[in-house]
Order: sequence, then structure tokens, then C-alpha cells
Amino acid sequence: MRILSGIQPSGKLHIGNYFGMMKPAIELQEQGEAFLFIADYHALTSVRDADSLRQMTMDVALDFLAAGLDPDKTAFYRQSDVPEVQELAWILSVITPMGLLERCHSYKDKTAKGLAATHGLFAYPVLMAADILSVQSTVVPVGRDQKQHVEVTRDIATKFNHQYAEVFTIPKPSIRDSVAVVPGIDGQKMSKSYDNTLEIFGAPGPLKKRVMKVVTDCKELEDPKDPTTCNVFALYNLFATDEEAVDLAMRYRAGNFGYGTAKKELLSKINEHFAPMREKRGELEKNMDFVEEVLRKGAKKARAETQKTLHAARKAVGLE
Ligand code: ADP
Ligand code: TRP
Repeated sequence: MRILSGIQPSGKLHIGNYFGMMKPAIELQEQGEAFLFIADYHALTSVRDADSLRQMTMDVALDFLAAGLDPDKTAFYRQSDVPEVQELAWILSVITPMGLLERCHSYKDKTAKGLAATHGLFAYPVLMAADILSVQSTVVPVGRDQKQHVEVTRDIATKFNHQYAEVFTIPKPSIRDSVAVVPGIDGQKMSKSYDNTLEIFGAPGPLKKRVMKVVTDCKELEDPKDPTTCNVFALYNLFATDEEAVDLAMRYRAGNFGYGTAKKELLSKINEHFAPMREKRGELEKNMDFVEEVLRKGAKKARAETQKTLHAARKAVGLE
């Protein structure tokens, strides 16, 4: 099994990203040959400041290494260190029907949220197809929002193989439906676009303030409370053992238990869970040469695979 996934370096990683994407992606390194890349070409569709892009790219690298990505098991790289993927994207682009891209939800969703309506944003599923096909991956773990793009990739690859030659492995999406959507402090999906996140590696002061702001209903202290509809409980549940979750639920239902106490317990769970990762991140930050070396090594592996695929594709279409 060859597994590939990517993440855009477009903001500080939050608890939703951690449980929805980072943790499952890191766990996959035990199950097959894994490739994970920082999608900086993709981030250009929304990030317009060079220093910010550079900074966020290295931040994501630090975050993943601190969270347990093992560079000996996973080829971890910057997308732009494999420039061949752009040539592959062009070769795919000329056989991609416009209708296929017009049906993609992400362009409409992102322009509705205020992103510039550019050709790059519109064509982004083709670059994503090139990412996936470049290393002949068989499984692509993504959140539900990205499923359509993996289906587009399958359509493009099938079309190419049929029209020219069997160059591409047809990948399957692996959808993480088991991870429920992590709520933000306002109860909507946690997302950097909604300014409702709890950052994994944020400073302790602001993190505490935000945890204390998690929206709850306005029951009095003595009233029994419903854990199943409570955002604080949902967040606590992500970190707690089964026994701890049952215990907190009982205290909610019993009454005489305030949301302030639940929030303090949530905060200590978050801090406890991420403390070792924060420490590791601090150490890695002092050793950016090591981080660069990891990315260089990862790119070398991904690049060799991509060059093989590109060579086969170029031959199939008549460029070689
Ligand atoms: P954001 O919504 O903050 O912009 P992205 O869209 O960049 O996050 O998502 C990056 C990855 O994290 C995706 O795989 C996505 O499915 C996952 N993810 C983001 N937010 C959540 C959430 N609230 N719950 C679960 N997974 C999430
Ligand atoms: N589009 C994905 C996102 O926004 C990131 C991504 C780019 C990706 N290329 C990929 C994910 C290839 C999986 C496979 O989250």
C-alpha cells in the first residue's frame, strides 16, 4: 500500500486539524509506504505574502515532526521541491474536461468565503491529481471535504490510461468518517476561516482565554446539564479516556457542577496532551538545519518517483 496525503500551509494548526488530519496521517506511517507533503503550491491560491508563506511552511514542518511524524517511515516534503509535479499537472490538464472542474464544490465555496477567483483556484483539483498520481499512490486519506477531488483524480487517471497508455495507478480515497467534525469555540466546525480555533502550539495565555470562551448554554450552576449537546464536553471527549468521559458526563447530569470547572478540566487535558509535543517543537526550532534536511531527504524520494511517472507520461503523449 502506498499512501499519500498533503496539507496546505495556510494557517496555524488547530485541534480540528490535529484530530481530523494530523493524527490519522501520522498513524498511517505504520501501515504502508507513506508520503506526506506540505502543499505550498496550493497555498499560493490564498497566501499572498512571501514571508508568511515561508514561515507557515516551516511551521507545518515543525508541527508534524513535533507531533510524531517519523521521517524514516514517511517521506515528508515540500511540494515545491518536486517541480516536476507542475509538468505532470499540465499534461493532465489538457485532457481534463471543463465540466469536471465546474462540478467541484471547493471553487464555489472558497470564492464565496472571499478568496480571489483565479485560474489557479479553479484548476487546483488538477494539481491535486498530479500530486496523487505522481508517486503512484494507492490510498489517499482525506477529510470528507476532499473526497470529490480524489474522485476527479480517478476520472482523469482513467481517461489518460484509456486514451494513451497504462501510466497511472488508480487511487482510492480513504475517508476519515470516524473522526467527527471537531467543534470550534463557537460550536461551528473548528476552522481558521471562522476564527474559532484552539491552536495546538499557541501561547498558554491566549489558549486559556479561548477555552474559557467556549460557548455553552446558560443553565444555572445547580441545574443538571446535558453533556451530549455541550461543546466543552465534545472537546474534552477527544482527549479523555472512556472512564474520564463517563465520569464528567455523570457530573454534568448530577447538577451543582459549573461549566467553568469543565473548561478548566478541558484546558488541563489539552495542555497535558500537547506538552510533550510543545517541548519537542521547542527543541526542533533550535535545529532548523535538521528540519531542512528531513524535507530535502523526503523530496529526494518523492522526486525520484515523480520523475519516473513523468517520464512514462511524457512518452505516452509524445513529448519523448
Ligand atoms: P481549516 O478549515 O481550518 O481551513 P483545512 O480546510 O485547511 O482547515 O483542513 C486541513 C485538514 O484538517 C483537512 O484534512 C480537514 O479535513 C481537517 N480538518 C479541518 N478542520 C477540521 C475539524 N473541525 N474537524 C475535523 N477535521 C478537520
Ligand atoms: N487540497 C488538500 C486540502 O486543502 C491538500 C492537498 C493537496 C492534498 N494535494 C493533495 C491532500 C493530495 C491529499 C492528496 O486539504
